[in-house]
Amino acid sequence: MIEEIEKISNSSIMRDNLDFKYYVSGTWEKSSSGKTITIKNPYNDEIVGTVQACSIEEANRVITVAKENLECWNELTQRERADILRKAATLMKEWANPLGYIMMKEIGKPLKSAISEINRTAELFEATAEAGLQQEGETIYGDTFKGFSKDKISMTYRVPLGVILCIGPFNYPFNLTGSKIAPALMAGNTVVVKPPSQGAISPLFFGLILEKAGLPPGVLNIITGKGSEIGDYLVQHPLVNMVSFTGSSETGKHIASVAGMKPLLLELGGKDAAIVLDAANLELTADIIVSGAFSYSGQRCTAVKRVLPMPGIADQLIELVKTKTLNLSIGNPEENATIGPLISSKQCDYVQGLVDDALEKGSTLVCGNKRQNNLMWPTLLDNVTTEMRIAWEEPFGPVLPFIRVKSAEEAIEISNKSEYGLQGMIFTENIDLAFNIAQELEVGTVQINGKSERGPDHFPFLGTKSSGLGTQGIKYSIEAMSRPKVIVLNLSEKGKLTKLCKYD
Ligand code: NAP
Ligand code: G3H
Repeated sequence: MIEEIEKISNSSIMRDNLDFKYYVSGTWEKSSSGKTITIKNPYNDEIVGTVQACSIEEANRVITVAKENLECWNELTQRERADILRKAATLMKEWANPLGYIMMKEIGKPLKSAISEINRTAELFEATAEAGLQQEGETIYGDTFKGFSKDKISMTYRVPLGVILCIGPFNYPFNLTGSKIAPALMAGNTVVVKPPSQGAISPLFFGLILEKAGLPPGVLNIITGKGSEIGDYLVQHPLVNMVSFTGSSETGKHIASVAGMKPLLLELGGKDAAIVLDAANLELTADIIVSGAFSYSGQRCTAVKRVLPMPGIADQLIELVKTKTLNLSIGNPEENATIGPLISSKQCDYVQGLVDDALEKGSTLVCGNKRQNNLMWPTLLDNVTTEMRIAWEEPFGPVLPFIRVKSAEEAIEISNKSEYGLQGMIFTENIDLAFNIAQELEVGTVQINGKSERGPDHFPFLGTKSSGLGTQGIKYSIEAMSRPKVIVLNLSEKGKLTKLCKYD
């Protein structure tokens, strides 16, 4: 598959056999550390490739190069930048199948979902180009406040922040890197990407794609290496002007603690709750809950991570969810099994620990609780109580707890007690009631009769509490990656607008 991309792209400069290089100043290089990170397929342990374990000196170099190329990138017009993004989108679509295949191998995502992640990113690039072209400044008279007049005029336009450091998670290695790169570039910034180590190969292709699309060398640089080794250095580097991070709340909080006064965009973990009321369409709700909880084996920040059903419908709902869960395919991501491997055996151990804790404390196993290597069968737990870890912790695996509640008030209370605040769901045909509850939930987004999800990508996407800082989404990301620049014109006696008005 790599050969297929190389054939279409007419280039094999990214690698020596399966050893991938990192991308700096428009060239592909090996780390002088001599060290590499081996990426194994989480389904069968086969080696997918190795990436460079770059050093601190190399981290310094990519950032310095990004800084040096800010000016040349800013000499281009918005339209020229938009054209590059659009060309990149076209290439992504052309390469979607082989790129998706590589991603499937490195993170165990079902092949169809991996390919659609590449196509989603292409659409995001196109939409970001369009949104960037819509950006306009504004002119404001000073006469809203006493003591000021129309003689004082502010002109506001947006300028880039500088070098944006983009760090993404393993579960969307291409899309959650692209959703940072595109707005950063469109806003006129240069970029340093640090991909997740497990999932580092597919984002490296942004180098090739954007270069082919006409991006000048040094505007985008991609450094691979362990976050634990080079992460703090990158975040704290004085030439980095902003950090855009998606990953766990633990790493996000750590980044916030070391970043100083740099602007941050943090998209972190979640524990999204589905409140199911008596007036819900249960068949539809069960379908949505199963797909929301188990696609990519629950390894999504927005996965349905707990269900809070009302007493009148709980038994029927759990039965429906059980039937649909037992129908899920389990196995090889290449064959598009819904439930594939978790990213590592360490993660499986963690998920198993949550299940064991719940069972020891008296929850009821509805189905699942079986493991084979990194495959974990989708597991439903009933009668979960707030004393159990699974009520609060994010499994990032195929486990769904049902916490039966007595009232909507109790559901709101349990929802809000979570340290997370990404999204919430309400299932009911009583839209007035749903709207009332939605206003009480302490989350970034509430979905009514739908699963929690990030897309479509021009919607605002944000988390409260430990789920994040700042707002993502095409126009919101462009805004977050730029700042207003204000020039105030103080008119002299001769040019006073108030005087001119007298002649009208
Ligand atoms: P993670 O372990 O926090 O890693 C995320 C990224 O941070 C990786 O690239 C990692 O590099 C890097 N990193 C680690 N230590 C660092 C440091 N000290 N400084 C800078 N970077 C550092 O998260 P993950 O396991 O990949 O992803 C799963 C988590 O992400 C879940 O909690 C999920 O909910 C969350 N997530 C949230 C969203 C959202 O939009 N809200 C989206 C997707 C995922 P290495 O890989 O080299 O360690
Ligand atoms: O894993 C977190 C992602 O931001 C979720 O995106 O809702 O499109 O699956 P998604």
